[in-house]
Order: sequence, then structure tokens, then C-alpha cells
Amino acid sequence: MMVQSTPQTGAQAVSTSSDVIVAAEGLTRHFPLAGGASVRAVDGVSFDIRRAETFGLVGESGSGKSTVARLLLRLDEPTSGRVTVDGNDLFALSNRELRRQRRRMQIVFQDPFAALNRRKTVEQIVGLPLSVHLGLRGQARAARVAELLDLVGLRRELAGRYPHQMSGGQCQRVGIARALALEPEFIVLDEAVSAVDVSIRAQLLNLLKDLQIRLGLTYLFVSHDLAVVRYMSSSVAVMYHGRIVEMGSRDRLFGDPMHPYTHCLMKAIPIPDPDQERANARARAGGVVEPDAVPVEGCRFRHRCPLGALSPRCASEEPQLIQVAPDHQVACHYPQSPESVVNVVSTAAAAQQSIADPASSSLPSHRSRG
Ligand SMILES: Nc1ncnc2c1ncn2[C@@H]1O[C@H](COP(=O)(O)OP(=O)(O)O)[C@@H](O)[C@H]1O
Ligand SMILES: [Mg+2]
Repeated sequence: MMVQSTPQTGAQAVSTSSDVIVAAEGLTRHFPLAGGASVRAVDGVSFDIRRAETFGLVGESGSGKSTVARLLLRLDEPTSGRVTVDGNDLFALSNRELRRQRRRMQIVFQDPFAALNRRKTVEQIVGLPLSVHLGLRGQARAARVAELLDLVGLRRELAGRYPHQMSGGQCQRVGIARALALEPEFIVLDEAVSAVDVSIRAQLLNLLKDLQIRLGLTYLFVSHDLAVVRYMSSSVAVMYHGRIVEMGSRDRLFGDPMHPYTHCLMKAIPIPDPDQERANARARAGGVVEPDAVPVEGCRFRHRCPLGALSPRCASEEPQLIQVAPDHQVACHYPQSPESVVNVVSTAAAAQQSIADPASSSLPSHRSRG
């Protein structure tokens, strides 16, 4: 197959059919900082989420996943680009349409304790959207809350409990019950199992899978943990510093990963970058901002890439997503499997010792797929 270049802003992701429920088109969110600089939290990402699928968004801390998630629910405004829901521009909806839309789209957050009001009982927490949006009261509301608790595998007696009287796993189930209260179609799960004990993580993941099948739900599953993304998702996008660097079906992406960053994620569970975190925290607090660690030109990953130091092209030209298979896109000038990277790096290193400028000529061009 010919390799074909698709700019990120124009990539119609993997699917173009009418089964797309939510789509991001050139979505960009820059946070201005004191002194005129800005954090390029999300920088021109495009993807389609198809009905009843789980679209996984993975990348290390600070890569822009939560910002994308918030934009998809219109909890934040993009700097540019757009989000469509059933083909309609989410940011062009009237207040009335937006209220209706909000019922169809829900979110479950990472920290089960922080996400629940500690002064309210489970019945009040899960019942709140039922009162506000559906006007349910008294017995009718209690009956619906009981149904929702059944649905998420919680005993009905827990309705009278407060969050601090329950385990993290139980609280997360309450969060899921609340998200399901208005019978949404699309749910964003932002690190939804990252804070719970490993021993109950699998149960929660299976509950989510089970609910998806029973209720026909579509998920955006956001996590820094590649293993859980692989377990949950049918399509996956890998984010690095605000860009999608690789995207495709789960089988393609895990079967034949082609971006050096994806290779890194697969070798180890990513370690959050504490320096970056501290800089970000200071930036948000309006303090002194350290220089942005992300290169302004060229490939953002090149300083950590085993190939980046070898090719001048990586320093000058930002790679766009290119199609390497029908359901697989990679934003790298030299996409290839991990084994070839090892070969290329050792060949280039050997060549570097013998001649003055071995770099660009020693790298293979895009690997054709067929
Ligand atoms: N409100 C904000 N103001 C300034 N910077 C922000 C804000 N929200 C997020 N960021 C920055 O944007 C980048 C992406 O953050 P985020 O989307 O939370 O990443 P992730 O969810 O992948 O960890 C980070 O550098 C973060 O510090
Ligand atoms: Mg996040």
C-alpha cells in the first residue's frame, strides 16, 4: 500500500461512516501563561469515536488527555478546531440544545472520594440528576436509585451510606451509577480505575464492559496505563505533548506499534515526569514558569527518541499522521516496528563512527505496508 500523508488537522481518523457519535477535528487548546508563552496542552488532534465502541486515549501524565476529554464534553472551550456530536458542532449549540446534549454525555472521574459530595448519601448523590433533570421525587426516585445500584452491582442497603463509609471501589460504582442515571449514550472515563486498588480494578473494568454491552454505551477511556487501555478499547490513540502520535484499531496498534513513543509505553508503564508537573503547578499558580521542555520545531518526541538525534528532518519538520494501514496512522518520519529501530540505531551508530555525516542517508524511509 502507498503511504499517504494526512495532516493531523485534516485526518478523518479511522472511520468516516455515519456510525460516528463524537468527533474531534483539529482540536486545539493552548493555555496562556504569564509572559506571553503558552502551554500547548492539545495541539490539533482529530479522531472519530464510533457508536458502541471504546476509544482509548493513552499517554503519560501531562500529554493532554484530560483536556481533550473536557473539550469533548464542552467543559472547556477550544482555542481552535471543533467537536461534533452526531455531526453537529458542539460549540454552536444553543443553551437549550446543550442541556439536552449534556444528558447524553457523562463523565466518571479518577478520584472516587473527591468526586462525590461527602455530606450526601448515596441516594442523594445518585438521585440528584433524577430530581434536577427528570423531576423524580420520593418513592419514584428511590426506586430508580435502587435500580441503578443493582445495575452497578451495589447492594440497595448502601443507599443510606455516606462516601466515607464505603470503599474506593464502592464509591467508584456510585460514580458510575450517577453517570448512568440519565441514560446517557456516551461516557468519558477519565482515569476512572487508576485510583482504586489493583485487586478491584479488574472487577470495575469488567463492570464497565458489561454495562457497555447491556446499555449500548460508547466510551472514551482515558488512562496513562497502556495495559488497561488495551484491555478496554477497540480503537486507541496515543498522545504525546498535545499531539496524537499513533492511532488505530487495538489489534493494529498493539500488534504492530510503529511510533517510538508507543514502543516506550509498551516497554514500561510510563512514569509521570515530576519536573514537568512542578513546572505546570507553578505555571497555574501564576509563578515563575520554566522554559517549555517541548521543542517548538520538529518532532516533539525527538529528544527522547532513539532515532531523533540521527535525522535532521526530525529537528526541522513536525511529523503529521500518515496512514500506514487502513486502520493505522502514525506521526513519525520513520515509522517502524521496535526490532527495526534497534537495527537502525546500531547501524547508524556504526556508520557515525566511520563517516562524518551519516545521519539522513542511514535511516530507512517510511515502511510501506501492504
Ligand atoms: N487550566 C489549566 N491551565 C494551565 N495549564 C493547564 C490547565 N489544564 C491543563 N494544563 C496543562 O496542560 C497540559 C495537559 O494537561 P492534561 O490535559 O491534564 O494532561 P493529562 O490528562 O494527559 O495528564 C499539562 O501541561 C497541564 O499542566
Ligand atoms: Mg488527566
